[in-house]
Amino acid sequence: MDTSTLKTIAYQLMQGNKGLLAMDESTATCNKRFQELGIPQTEEYRRKYRDLIVNAPGLEEYISGAILFDETIKQSTADGTLFIDILKHKGIIPGIKVDEGAIPMAGFPGEKITEGLDGLGDRLKNYYKMGARFAKWRAVITIGADIPSPTCIKANAYTLARYAMFCQEAGLVPIVEPEVVMDGDHSLQKCAEVTTEVIHALFNALYQHRVDLEGIILKPNMILPGENSPEKPGLDEVAEATIKCFLKTVPASVPGIAFLSGGQQAALASERLNRMHTRFGDVMPWVLTFSFSRAIQQPALELWKGNDDNIVAAQRALVHRAACNSAAKMGVYSADMETGPQ
Ligand code: 13P
Repeated sequence: MDTSTLKTIAYQLMQGNKGLLAMDESTATCNKRFQELGIPQTEEYRRKYRDLIVNAPGLEEYISGAILFDETIKQSTADGTLFIDILKHKGIIPGIKVDEGAIPMAGFPGEKITEGLDGLGDRLKNYYKMGARFAKWRAVITIGADIPSPTCIKANAYTLARYAMFCQEAGLVPIVEPEVVMDGDHSLQKCAEVTTEVIHALFNALYQHRVDLEGIILKPNMILPGENSPEKPGLDEVAEATIKCFLKTVPASVPGIAFLSGGQQAALASERLNRMHTRFGDVMPWVLTFSFSRAIQQPALELWKGNDDNIVAAQRALVHRAACNSAAKMGVYSADMETGPQ
């Protein structure tokens, strides 16, 4: 295992004003988002959409790495250039989602466990040969009446750690994503308690599996109330709860934390990341950035609607959101960015 290369990749992913673009929606998730907008759910339309993204002019000014899906890493532009080659040419490091989705956890109603460890070592070797230099695995933790159970938290932490060790052996930086989802009506305080427990369990498992913490990226949720909760916390409350949780649970040796957006409204996700930097920028030992899918892509997808005439407008919207999140990472985002020329 070449730990110094892993550290260099992690460092490059977290550098300067940049963050990650998650464009690794599974076929089912991508089709669901297409269906909502009346876009044909075919491989060709998924290809066209990803073509628009990787070719968006200026994306590389704000994005250091892009997470692809198995279908996408093998696809090409209309003129036959592999997407992965376009990304590399732009200086964007290609990554790959390698989990095979979260399924109901047998014996634990309402809870999920992520699959994909079988054959993972060989799959990672292939992705490395194709040019991927980092990977992603998402665990799903749901808050409900009597959940999450300690068993679900432990099982997902153990699986994330096994995945992470496979990645490091194959020369890929693992993004470890234990997502406490926003579904439900729980309070911000409850989200803080569960996320704290989940991240503690995760780092315990990573340690036990001999994962080099300097060669991983953590991809967590922000601390927020459930989407059906009446609570409407302010920016300071979210920033404080989130950073306090990570200061308690994430070792300083971890190079970076890159948030998922989890269904937050796009501009609000930028505002919250920005507030974390303006309030706590000087006490954080790790880089704090974004690894958004919906909070970067959704406005662009809504403009594109599957129509070639809308490609330029969609690309502008995509790069605009990347620019807003980049500004948030630097603590210089302001709401004016949403109304100025885009
Ligand atoms: P969202 O930003 O849409 O939550 O997606 C991030 C992601 O990669 C989920 O696995």
